[in-house]
Amino acid sequence: MMMRVLEDELFPSTPGKVKIERTHAANRQLHRCFASTSTLFLWALLLIALTASYLSFQSFVDTSSRYFTASWGGLHWERQIRASAAVRREDGIAVLVTGAAGFVGTHVSLALRRRGDGVVGLDNFNAYYDPSLKKARKALLASHGVFVVEGDVNDARLLAKLFDTVPFTHVMHLAAQAGVRYAIENPASYVHSNVAGLVTLLEACKSADPQPSVVWASSSSVYGLNDKVPFSELDGTDRPASLYAATKKAGEEITHCYNHIYGLSITGLRFFTVYGPWGRPDMAYFSFTRNILQGKPITVFRGRDGTDLARDFTYIDDVVKGCVAALDTAEASTGSGGRKRSPAQYRIYNLGNTSPVTVPALVGILERHLKMKAKKNVAEMPGNGDVPFTHANISLARAELGYKPTTNLETGLKKFVKWYLSYYGYSRRVGNKS
Ligand SMILES: NC(=O)c1ccc[n+]([C@@H]2O[C@H](COP(=O)([O-])OP(=O)(O)OC[C@H]3O[C@@H](n4cnc5c(N)ncnc54)[C@H](O)[C@@H]3O)[C@@H](O)[C@H]2O)c1
Ligand SMILES: *[C@@H]1O[C@H](CO)[C@@H](O)[C@H](O)[C@H]1NC(C)=O
Repeated sequence: MMMRVLEDELFPSTPGKVKIERTHAANRQLHRCFASTSTLFLWALLLIALTASYLSFQSFVDTSSRYFTASWGGLHWERQIRASAAVRREDGIAVLVTGAAGFVGTHVSLALRRRGDGVVGLDNFNAYYDPSLKKARKALLASHGVFVVEGDVNDARLLAKLFDTVPFTHVMHLAAQAGVRYAIENPASYVHSNVAGLVTLLEACKSADPQPSVVWASSSSVYGLNDKVPFSELDGTDRPASLYAATKKAGEEITHCYNHIYGLSITGLRFFTVYGPWGRPDMAYFSFTRNILQGKPITVFRGRDGTDLARDFTYIDDVVKGCVAALDTAEASTGSGGRKRSPAQYRIYNLGNTSPVTVPALVGILERHLKMKAKKNVAEMPGNGDVPFTHANISLARAELGYKPTTNLETGLKKFVKWYLSYYGYSRRVGNKS
């Protein structure tokens, strides 16, 4: 019954019918049109238009069938959710982790589960990078008793169902379209996940009873063209250099509005280039490792004036401690029934490492750990959104979260390389999924 209704909504008119009518009309005009060569051009245009509409119809059918197969609900499903959300320690918390099959989400979920908190994951397993890596992370989580729901943060019905099933005390919102350069190719995916998805999630949080406290991932990229170092939370963030950065900045303002109107407790964490085992294949340290092992060249970008690019690389375990500390220090939300009873907490913290490393130094460390030389192409950084350097001032997180990163890039990359070789193997042919 439900399927019927949805199908009707998705296919308001029968596309086949429209096409047939178009063909009849076309037949009647066939002779007249072909009589003149100048109308050949019009025919070519019509052909292109028909092909394009056919192709877009195909991709539409594709998405909707994926929607129907990614099913949720039912008694068995609810039982899995409740078991995963079960708290196993005194004063434990129950956390909905969005983006749980992602890099940071997997590690945060594991850390929470290990200390006895309840964790339910949510992830849409999109193909921005190799989904099989996301599936492998999901399997890892399952082996620790964490269930990851396959669904989108834009699915308001699913979110309402999750909050109906479990009275989550916290939401760790990590689902997002990440990556700076991909916004050139697919800008809509950033609006979909980082703006629309965030609003849908906050709507669900504000309506939930009780309201959860929300901790979410912003990004160091909000500092944009800021060149005062180290980057402090007091610095301006109104000059983003990429659409990704702009959507994260929008997120900081959107969360502020939900905090102000509905009393949601909000903590935004500005991560600085997080790396480590189970990391993201689209990031430089990961693709450099893959290419070095395969004997393929890597491209090392430099700044306009020939300076080396630098990043404040932050090891995943340090970031996880910061995330968990943010959850533990988050005050309760203060709203219910669509309005707040009193002002709620609103915080923003840098989570970085405070010791930037240049990209050539990063390559040097990888070469030592892999015992192989990189074939380097040096090129000027294209102006597509990357900033020349990042450097975090973490004194606020240190004071208020007890955040204290302890892993330097040398040590962290050693752990990453160890994981990479055990996951992809030593073979030169594998590990080139993305
Ligand atoms: N890794 C970093 O260096 C870094 C730096 C700054 C900020 N961040 C932010 O931290 C968060 C986690 O990053 P990550 O490195 O783990 O990235 P990731 O891509 O590995 O994880 C994000 C996960 O969210 C999922 N997702 C995306 N859109 C979704 C949607 N609409 N609905 C449901 N799930 C969706 C993806 O499938 C993915 O598994 C992101 O918000 C990212 O923007 C990361
Ligand atoms: C670091 O940031 C804090 C605010 O979070 C600020 O008070 C302090 O002056 C900053 N330190 C430096 C060296 O910029």
